[in-house]
Amino acid sequence: MLPRKLLGTASVPGSGVVLQLYQSGELFSIKIPGRGDLMNSRMHGSEKALAELACSRLANAAHPRILIGGLGMGFTLAAALHVLGPSAEVVCAELVPEVVEWNRTLIGAPAGRPLDDARASVYVGDVADLIRRPDSGFDAILLDVDNGPEALVRSANNWLYGGPGIRAARDALRPRGVLAVWSASHDRLFPKLLKDEGFRVTEHVVRPHRAGKGPRHVIWIAAQ
Ligand SMILES: C[S@@+](CC[C@H](N)C(=O)[O-])C[C@H]1O[C@@H](n2cnc3c(N)ncnc32)[C@H](O)[C@@H]1O
Repeated sequence: MLPRKLLGTASVPGSGVVLQLYQSGELFSIKIPGRGDLMNSRMHGSEKALAELACSRLANAAHPRILIGGLGMGFTLAAALHVLGPSAEVVCAELVPEVVEWNRTLIGAPAGRPLDDARASVYVGDVADLIRRPDSGFDAILLDVDNGPEALVRSANNWLYGGPGIRAARDALRPRGVLAVWSASHDRLFPKLLKDEGFRVTEHVVRPHRAGKGPRHVIWIAAQ
């Protein structure tokens, strides 16, 4: 087994959680002590699917504007940029400044350095700030900031997955906009909350590995 090296640590603002960045050979992992991997550079099929399922619906948008929360290892951002055309604008909100710095330096390569793409920009802070901002005007909002509707990393993230957060996301979308949400597991209440706010909802079960291996992650696509 290859030795594991600790490359950095960071605190998640507004929670007692610490992130640890490790490297073992070519594998990078961001871990939460006592809870295991938040992300690693090997398993990213569902993070990629989140962007593909949402952005493939924007073929008719002339200048699509996308919001992604959070950056993680950049796989969702890279997949969105791959699907979208040259006139797209993608804002990625990331709460932890060190995660942005790690993507610019240590861990950018596995996702293909999406932050170097001129269509991408980073907001260092809470994605909720951008969702609440008047006149946000996004064609799609993609959320992968926590475990899913039951936030485990930062309790303030629960706002995003409840009625007020869903309403704010709906108001931040342009007509025919899409809200796409990643989750580590099924949730009975969340799709109902989306429907209550007028969204048409499809649920997609996605595996992290291309070969269909690994846990079953869930992606909800909520369309207007
Ligand atoms: C599971 S990772 C995202 C993985 C990402 N989809 C990818 O492709 O690598 C979750 C990220 O969201 C960030 N995060 C957590 N809460 C956030 C919030 N409220 N706003 C913005 N970023 C947040 C975390 O610091 C972490 O980097």
